Amino acid sequence: MTTTTTTAGPDAPADLTGPGDSTRPTGPDDDIRENPAAHRVLTGDRPTGPLHLGHYFGSLRNRVRLQRLGVEMFLVIPDYQVITDRDVADRLAEHTENLVLDYLATGIDPDRATVFTHSSVPALNQLLLPFLSLVSVAELHRNPTVKDEIAHSSQASVNGLMLTYPVHQAADILFCKADLVPVGKDQLPHLEVARTVARRFDERYPRPDGTPVFPRPRALLSDAPLLLGTDGGKMSKSRGNSIPLAADEDTTARLVKGAKTDTERRITYDPAGRPEVSNLVLLAALCQDRAPETVAEEIGDGGSAALKRTVTEAVNEHLRPIRARRAELATDRGHLRAVLRAGSERANGIADATLAEVREVMGSL
Ligand code: TRP
Repeated sequence: MTTTTTTAGPDAPADLTGPGDSTRPTGPDDDIRENPAAHRVLTGDRPTGPLHLGHYFGSLRNRVRLQRLGVEMFLVIPDYQVITDRDVADRLAEHTENLVLDYLATGIDPDRATVFTHSSVPALNQLLLPFLSLVSVAELHRNPTVKDEIAHSSQASVNGLMLTYPVHQAADILFCKADLVPVGKDQLPHLEVARTVARRFDERYPRPDGTPVFPRPRALLSDAPLLLGTDGGKMSKSRGNSIPLAADEDTTARLVKGAKTDTERRITYDPAGRPEVSNLVLLAALCQDRAPETVAEEIGDGGSAALKRTVTEAVNEHLRPIRARRAELATDRGHLRAVLRAGSERANGIADATLAEVREVMGSL
């Protein structure tokens, strides 16, 4: 459980590990490259709406890169997490299928990755019970990301799942013994919960030969700079300020056109002084795989209109093959369901084996 005073959000420092903690949220991935088979990656996205450019540059591309290195990949679609800050998970099946579509379109290979929903793996969820006994109520209340989500929630009262979902997330990670978790900075407190749960479990239920049941997972932070939404705030599915991956070209143009800029004609890349303009410059630069300074210089005195034309073109061009593939995959919903079924079957086998180990060290009959 986190003991830092760091608040969540884009400005949170990267290193949230406490003293004496040997794990680090980021690190050289030399070992991943040299020894991919020794690692297992798990990450996921709540099925609450379409993935956007922030997800794409912040994490989807990185997942595909890890997959290409040969690391085994698990993608959880945490449907139970949706009902932490709302009463009902709206259009759950549709959002779940669309997530699978986004994954496959961006290059996740269903023959190599295990894609599954939370709710289809009972043994994963059962791990939550012993795990909850390892954290105090005070620790649950201190989690900065949970605090932030409570502050943004429109619900009249905080439900029990909201307070305990970081422990549930520890079960998502630990059921398959993943050691690498590609996430954004806002998830670092949750990774610390997962490490704490793993460590305390192994301390409380030591095996006779001293080998731990669980790994100590670490976060893999993307080195891509944070993208802002079209209103200059954090790009978020729920804030209506994002550019969805699956948007068509005209919608993309309209969303970019509506993006906030400033009145200065000359375009520069100055993230601290001109966050909105710089964010658009960055977006074009990421799409074109160029330095943002070069992009800004090229537009020069063209003003916001020229900047937005450049961004629209860059985004649409970069995403064209992904969107085409997505549209093709979308015609076969049966295939999407089959991918989920196969993922769930595999995840269940692994979760059953882990739960059997847990029951054994606990002395359950
Ligand atoms: N909490 C994550 C989010 O809101 C989603 C998630 C659920 C997750 N379980 C996970 C991410 C396990 C990484 C690992 O984005």
